[in-house]
Amino acid sequence: MTEREIRILAIESSCDETAAAVVVNGRDVRSNVISSQIALHTLYGGVVPEIASRKHIEKINQVITQALEEAGMRLEEMDAIGVTYGPGLVGALLVGVAEAKAISYAKGIPLVGVHHIEGHICANYIENRELEPPFLCLVVSGGHTHLVRVSDYGTYEVLGRTRDDAAGEAFDKVARAIGLGYPGGPKIEMAAREGNPHAVEFPRAKIADAPYDFSFSGLKSAVLNYLNGCRQKGIPIVQADIAASFQKAVTDVLVENARRAVREFGMERFAIAGGVASNGALREGMREMCRSEGVAFYSPSPVFCTDNAAMIGVAAYYDFRNGKRDGLDLNAVPNLKLGAR
Ligand code: KG4
Ligand code: ZN
Repeated sequence: MTEREIRILAIESSCDETAAAVVVNGRDVRSNVISSQIALHTLYGGVVPEIASRKHIEKINQVITQALEEAGMRLEEMDAIGVTYGPGLVGALLVGVAEAKAISYAKGIPLVGVHHIEGHICANYIENRELEPPFLCLVVSGGHTHLVRVSDYGTYEVLGRTRDDAAGEAFDKVARAIGLGYPGGPKIEMAAREGNPHAVEFPRAKIADAPYDFSFSGLKSAVLNYLNGCRQKGIPIVQADIAASFQKAVTDVLVENARRAVREFGMERFAIAGGVASNGALREGMREMCRSEGVAFYSPSPVFCTDNAAMIGVAAYYDFRNGKRDGLDLNAVPNLKLGAR
């Protein structure tokens, strides 16, 4: 007997993408609609929270309608509404949460609040049907750098995290400093293609008592000091070389910490997730590390690395299956911790 399909309508609005998706049985993405605000925030050199919230309100109904249309399904056919309720910008999160609660109440459809980082991790399930816990996952996004042990669906243990800037934040700040602008990650990756990764020896920070923790603020300062030094000495600034050297420094630290964890925890599978995981140099570095350590490597396609609602639908499915339901008192939690509930 075939089991009945479980259909999830997922909503994501934690930062600067308004997104909705329909996901069937956890891994089958029927639609994935993303309305990006990048062009709007580029005018200001970064995400302006108040503008992000207002734009989410304008777009949210449109993206939901489109996600249902592309999936060829009606709202009434959904088994649950999955929505990101944290972490993220509070005003932005509230738009998605309020929308999900309104639909849940009006249609009598169960509500499942999803942790944004869990969503990023779950993006790996979409194109890797054979991937199942346990595995290690490095989540590298604009707000987070977490090395996580995924021991089961919905069971996460944070082994290490950044002590200061997130990896994506470092990309964004360095891009701004060298005049590449916003969004920093893709612009640095593009510039780095023309540059020499060994042109400038930037520091690779290690944290003595916490081998899986990260620190990127020293690297950011080193880039700023290097730029100041060049200006004082009248040395021309070669954007591409700085971009390539910075990207190599970030990648080396992420890869070496991941290698250590893979060895220490004897994991057979390793995955990456989050916006920075769409970086080609990082993907290549991790693939090579996994090959040399003899572990299987997983990564979502770039479209599932950066913020999207399909990944929220996947996470919501496993939460739903585990019996998780939220009430209409579900609230946005801007600093929600992973594994907190
Ligand atoms: O996961 P995400 O879309 O949003 C958060 O949850 O933060 O990640 C956005 C971050 C930004 O800092 C952006 O600069 C970075 O991911 N990013 C990249 C690339 N594409 C996006 N970083 C490096 N290389 C890329 N190709
Ligand atoms: Zn994200």
